[in-house]
Amino acid sequence: MRDLHCHILPGVDDGARTVDESLAMLAAAYRAGITEIVCTPHARDPYFDYDAMWDAFELLRSKARGFPLSMGFEVNIAKLWELGSQWIPYLAFDATPEFLLELQTNALPADFARYERTIYEIQGQGYQVIIAHPERYRAIQKDPTIAENLVRMGCKLQASTDFIAGGRLGAEKKPAKKLLKAGLYAYFASDAHRVKHYAYYEKAMKEYGGLLRG
Ligand SMILES: [Fe+2]
Repeated sequence: MRDLHCHILPGVDDGARTVDESLAMLAAAYRAGITEIVCTPHARDPYFDYDAMWDAFELLRSKARGFPLSMGFEVNIAKLWELGSQWIPYLAFDATPEFLLELQTNALPADFARYERTIYEIQGQGYQVIIAHPERYRAIQKDPTIAENLVRMGCKLQASTDFIAGGRLGAEKKPAKKLLKAGLYAYFASDAHRVKHYAYYEKAMKEYGGLLRG
């Protein structure tokens, strides 16, 4: 099983703080049944440092004893606007033509029109767009048809499995279950910042993995 969203790189964002913590997370991921990891540090303020993130990736890979690790980013859409679309290929996954996009938590339904243009631009450069944790976005919590529309546009939706414990902001369990029942999610990901998050991944996979559309 591939975990395509996590903050396992040491010292580059609000995830793992040290290499030791990264390695403890790696062991926990393995125990949770994960066999492949895409490392996706935050491409957003105040964390984004492209070179430092790649250095952290190389460091972790050198200590991971052959565990399959590849590089990506969790790209905040406002950060992408700031950087410009020439950055799209640099922020995509390095092993597969995929792009993990984070939207703004408090976006209004009207903001999604602007999001659509950016999503089409990423798709136009040949990348599969994966939307990180739609269950966390207010507009989607209120109106799941916005999530349906993203799927219709060709996006794949990724739930962050801490939803089973309420989620990062505490209100994600209900909306995630609603989207799961509607068959809208393609992926579960740990979105792990700490070791404990892999237990949520394992539990979510066991209880709800059958509802993913793949
Ligand atoms: Fe994340």
